[in-house]
Amino acid sequence: MRTHACGDVGVQDTGTTIRIAGWTNKWRDHGGVVFIDLRDRSGIVQVVFSPEIDAELHKAAHRIRNEFVIQVEGEVRHRPEGTANPSIPTGQVEVIAKKIVVLNECKALPFMVDDETDASEHLRYKHRYLDLRRPVIQKNIIIRHKAARAFREYLDGKGFLEIETPMLTKSTPEGARDYLVPSRTNPGHFFALPQSPQIFKQILMVSGLERYYQIVKCFRDEDLRADRQPEFTQVDLEMSFIKREDIMALIEEMIKKAFSDAIGVEITEHFAKLTYHEAMDRYGCDKPDLRFGLELKNVSDIVKDSSFNVFLDTLSKGGIIKGLNAKGLAGYSRKDLDDLTREVQGFGAKGMAWMKVKGVVESPIAKFFSEDTLKALVKRFDAEEGDLLLFVADKENVANDCLARLRNEMGRRLDLIKGGVYRFAWITDFPLFEWNEDEKRFEAMHHPFTSPMEEDLERFMSVETSELPSFRASELASVRAQAYDIVLNGYEIGGGSIRIHKKELQDRMFQLLNIGPEEANEKFGFLLEALEYGAPPHGGIALGLDRLVMIMAGASSIRDVIAFPKTQKAVCPLSNAPSPVDQKQLKELGIKLDIVE
Ligand code: AMO
Ligand code: AMP
Repeated sequence: MRTHACGDVGVQDTGTTIRIAGWTNKWRDHGGVVFIDLRDRSGIVQVVFSPEIDAELHKAAHRIRNEFVIQVEGEVRHRPEGTANPSIPTGQVEVIAKKIVVLNECKALPFMVDDETDASEHLRYKHRYLDLRRPVIQKNIIIRHKAARAFREYLDGKGFLEIETPMLTKSTPEGARDYLVPSRTNPGHFFALPQSPQIFKQILMVSGLERYYQIVKCFRDEDLRADRQPEFTQVDLEMSFIKREDIMALIEEMIKKAFSDAIGVEITEHFAKLTYHEAMDRYGCDKPDLRFGLELKNVSDIVKDSSFNVFLDTLSKGGIIKGLNAKGLAGYSRKDLDDLTREVQGFGAKGMAWMKVKGVVESPIAKFFSEDTLKALVKRFDAEEGDLLLFVADKENVANDCLARLRNEMGRRLDLIKGGVYRFAWITDFPLFEWNEDEKRFEAMHHPFTSPMEEDLERFMSVETSELPSFRASELASVRAQAYDIVLNGYEIGGGSIRIHKKELQDRMFQLLNIGPEEANEKFGFLLEALEYGAPPHGGIALGLDRLVMIMAGASSIRDVIAFPKTQKAVCPLSNAPSPVDQKQLKELGIKLDIVE
């Protein structure tokens, strides 16, 4: 139906007759001449209908509306002097129409198909087919395709097999809420949609397949955010006979290829490596944005010599005082600082203290500090004239969390976060366990199949379990995992670990997690048994494809890189899912509804 794609028409075609087809992007009448911008996936080209060239055709062009699908035959010519449009690749030329066929009409549009739109998310998703016509979104979908292709090519080259794993399965260990699917043939029984293929990929290693990968949907019923969807996609892989450094090196090379193939960006430097403790210490979180500095400093050792009660109280309760240097912001007014304090309180801090470096240190709390102590603070932050120091005193985790968010906010305000810059980091040596304060028990920080570090194995095996719930700051808290996360520009884009491949270690892990043999067997028995039949040492990782592509595309939400996303409320306005089902379906499933509000 066409000889050219709209976006490919150029000066090389002048004088030739071509056939193109697409959507009417824009229609306008200039002094009797009708101009149509015709759009297909490749781009836009201008088509001209002049009454002097063909009166009938010109009349027909008047009946075209936005988003009509048309086919045009015409001659390519240079645009007249002074009318070229440098903002589009085809802007040097136009097509003088000789024939037009309306392939389909289009109803009045609910919103304009345009890169800039103020249509609500609900409306856009309800008519996602129109939304997906917008060139910005199409660009994202194409980047996603290229990234996925790069991963497949790379992994194929390294001997990985693409293997599918079941969607109708059992609950997996990632720890979010499950999406459940009732079984008709086994009334009262439910499948869970996989939160990840974790167990199956480990079983594939026991099976001797050695290198597995899959670009796979995962399902988690979590509270949604800009970087979270209830169904999302992982680039999931697992390897046998490897160490964590092997996996990290492989992933680094693979991601570099994907950036090159998908967006033409060559990442040349090695990915940074930080231990979990370093990351928490310097950035207050385990997914720091390394595009800018503004590192946090612990000043507990300095301020203990002050007479400022807020700080002293915090220290006496085992908390810490940390802060950052908001470079050059000593000009902030009292109101600016009050507003910022409220923002930090919104993050969960009790308050925020500040000091301006202006010749002397200016601060309502300066009087509680000796001159030497103030000097020591200024020195700790490498502060210079005009700088603003911000402090939070609280429990370590609260202070870290608030300051990590404050750091991102100040990075934005100081315009330190540049587009087109990609700063990767591996975060390693995570604690194996995390303390759940509500339930007073340890949880696996990554998942319960993650192996402890060899150096910490003895402690892992020898801790007395009877005293378990009481020792929050115990030996167990310091056992590290052979786990690694990969972070890009402040987002966790992947995580993995070396797995436990021996039954005794796995049993011990469940014991420490307070999961009894029966529960372990009920939940993960099929993996536990498999481990007893010659499981090789193995490990792997999963990358969040949506997040990675979001960053590649410069988008601000993963919804912009997913063809059919769910809204913040986890619904699909296009299909209206989820929706009620009829009684007959429920009856077949043996289900009676009793909805509790
Ligand atoms: P994890 O739970 O860390 O590991 O998930 C891996 C990566 O998946 C992405 N991700 C998400 N993306 C969008 N929406 C979500 N709701 C969401 N949840 C996670 C993140 C994350 O880093 N089985 C292990 C991997 C392994 O150990 O090999 C796992 O699933 O980018
Ligand atoms: P207050 O004692 O509440 O009047 O606070 C005195 C100063 O200490 C004010 O500047 C507060 O913002 C600051 N402040 C209070 N609580 C904290 C805290 N948890 N961390 C840092 N500064 C605080």
